[in-house]
Amino acid sequence: MCGIFGFVGEGLNVQDLINGLKKLEYRGYDSAGIAIENEKNISIYKKEGRIYNLESEIPQLMEKKISTALGHTRWATHGGVSDQNSHPHTDCTGKVAIIHNGIIENFQYLREKLIKNGHIFKSETDSEVIAHMVEENYSGNLLECVIKVLHELNGAYAIGVIHTDEPNCIIAARKGSPLVISAGSNISMLASDVTPILRYSKDVNFLNDGEIAKLTNNGYELYDLQGNKIERKPIHINWDEACAERSGYNHFMEKEIFEQPIAIKSATIGRLKDGIPCIKELEPLKDFIETKLEKIYIVACGTAYHAGLAMKYFMQYYSNIDVSIEVASEFRYMNPKIDGKTLTIAISQSGETLDTLEGVRIARKNGSHVLTVCNVVGSTIPRESDSVIYMNTGPEIGVAATKTYTAQIAILYIVGAQIALWKNLYSEDIKNALCQIENLPEYFNTVLGYSQKIKELSKSYCGYRNMMYIGRRFGYTAALEGALKLKEISYINATGYQAGELKHGPIALLDQEFPVFAMVCDDDIKEKMISNIMEVKARKARVVAVGIEGDEKIKTLTDDYILIPKCEQAVFPLAVAPVMQLFAYNVALLRELDPDKPRNLAKSVTVE
Ligand code: AGP
Repeated sequence: MCGIFGFVGEGLNVQDLINGLKKLEYRGYDSAGIAIENEKNISIYKKEGRIYNLESEIPQLMEKKISTALGHTRWATHGGVSDQNSHPHTDCTGKVAIIHNGIIENFQYLREKLIKNGHIFKSETDSEVIAHMVEENYSGNLLECVIKVLHELNGAYAIGVIHTDEPNCIIAARKGSPLVISAGSNISMLASDVTPILRYSKDVNFLNDGEIAKLTNNGYELYDLQGNKIERKPIHINWDEACAERSGYNHFMEKEIFEQPIAIKSATIGRLKDGIPCIKELEPLKDFIETKLEKIYIVACGTAYHAGLAMKYFMQYYSNIDVSIEVASEFRYMNPKIDGKTLTIAISQSGETLDTLEGVRIARKNGSHVLTVCNVVGSTIPRESDSVIYMNTGPEIGVAATKTYTAQIAILYIVGAQIALWKNLYSEDIKNALCQIENLPEYFNTVLGYSQKIKELSKSYCGYRNMMYIGRRFGYTAALEGALKLKEISYINATGYQAGELKHGPIALLDQEFPVFAMVCDDDIKEKMISNIMEVKARKARVVAVGIEGDEKIKTLTDDYILIPKCEQAVFPLAVAPVMQLFAYNVALLRELDPDKPRNLAKSVTVE
């Protein structure tokens, strides 16, 4: 997944281009590059490593006014991390420059064909084939040329293309990778998401798959792959740039953990009143749910999957409605039993995760109604779904999902409650859980107040190589998410297990070098969790537990503990989330790692 930013028009300089790229570094940051077109000449500057490396190569250029420019931050897929594999890529003549986000699946075939025609490649990337194909097909009209080239590409792309024979013009196109365009006063822009554009305009147009845009300093025109013009009004984005800045926190992840009281409020406001669900986006499904619905299938990846698992437990435990769930990368290939009586719920904060997107396509092909819960307006997955509920949490920049996780569970519970209501399966327990969700902003403020204690606690665990998270029922879903948080930003080998599974194998791992994080929910099976903690202690493993205020046993049985205010067991995965997130965040800092940019990961995985 890479970051694209470019513009054509007056008034901006190289520093503006670089600053725009910096807002996209979270999308990919193993190399960066820019292409500047000036008086029929394209200059390319690109460098391995963070954008800072590129910036320090060209200090003399920063104030230079530019009229047509492309910028790119890379997350390597084909071709290692190197200067020559960085984007932009050029053709043999240097008259063409392109930037690309996605994967050209038939690039080997195209590359061989181009080499046979005499083209010389400078990189190992799939993307470079686009530059040479433009060179080969250009005959005076860049828009027509790019359309012709796109018909030969298989795979996913978001691209920007410039040609010295057509100055002050950028051709942009997308299929499978996000791309948004905008026109401000005598300047037009393209970017992978709205963040670098917001300073110049809040009116944007999200390209759909198979759409092309021609950007000039007089605005932009939209076309389809047949060259037909498309008219579509822009969307007004109400995020301002500050929303996407760190606003004083050390990392985006820290900011987003502390944003959860506001985020959960904006995710649930107008969708819940006194424990009663009222999601307007679901209204069109009422008749289907009341009369036809026979199966619910949840499809998601990573943290979104953990949120979906909590929904499964919520619906089965409280309203006896059976829910299937599968990670999207398995769902795609397991021939799931889905038909017109199935409601498929796709969960994706980015709305660009390719595995989840393909799961949505399979579900729809089988006649299922697809409802997506997503955080990014206009992203691909919601635009390929039948219904969408946006999470409205504001941009989540940190690679580790935090506020979007708790917002997902809250929205999914409200959806589950609405379905139960329409199925006459609503209950006081459901109402009680939803009332507690309504009060989560205050609850989160209390739990976030323990941040200093959690920070102290993390010092005792940052030196371990392994850690096990255990829980039962809703505590198990929290254990999975807690383990993922720790592993993805601290690189400690952390795994979540059903506590009841320990005796079937995992307990063999435990000794004084292998600590355990126990989720102790105040429910009817709590005593079994206490027994599991004793099992663990008998193997000399250190135990830290999260439990409910008033639980005296935890204080005596464990080495460390955090007690959170009482909550309904279904709310437990939400209630403990800030504790798990802050624990992982502080451990990562103590291990001198960057929580916002963990190695090998990107904010959304738009490749297989
Ligand atoms: C979560 O912290 C990870 N960054 C990752 O597992 C993520 O949840 C997963 O890639 C799904 O992303 P999505 O919600 O954007 O689809």
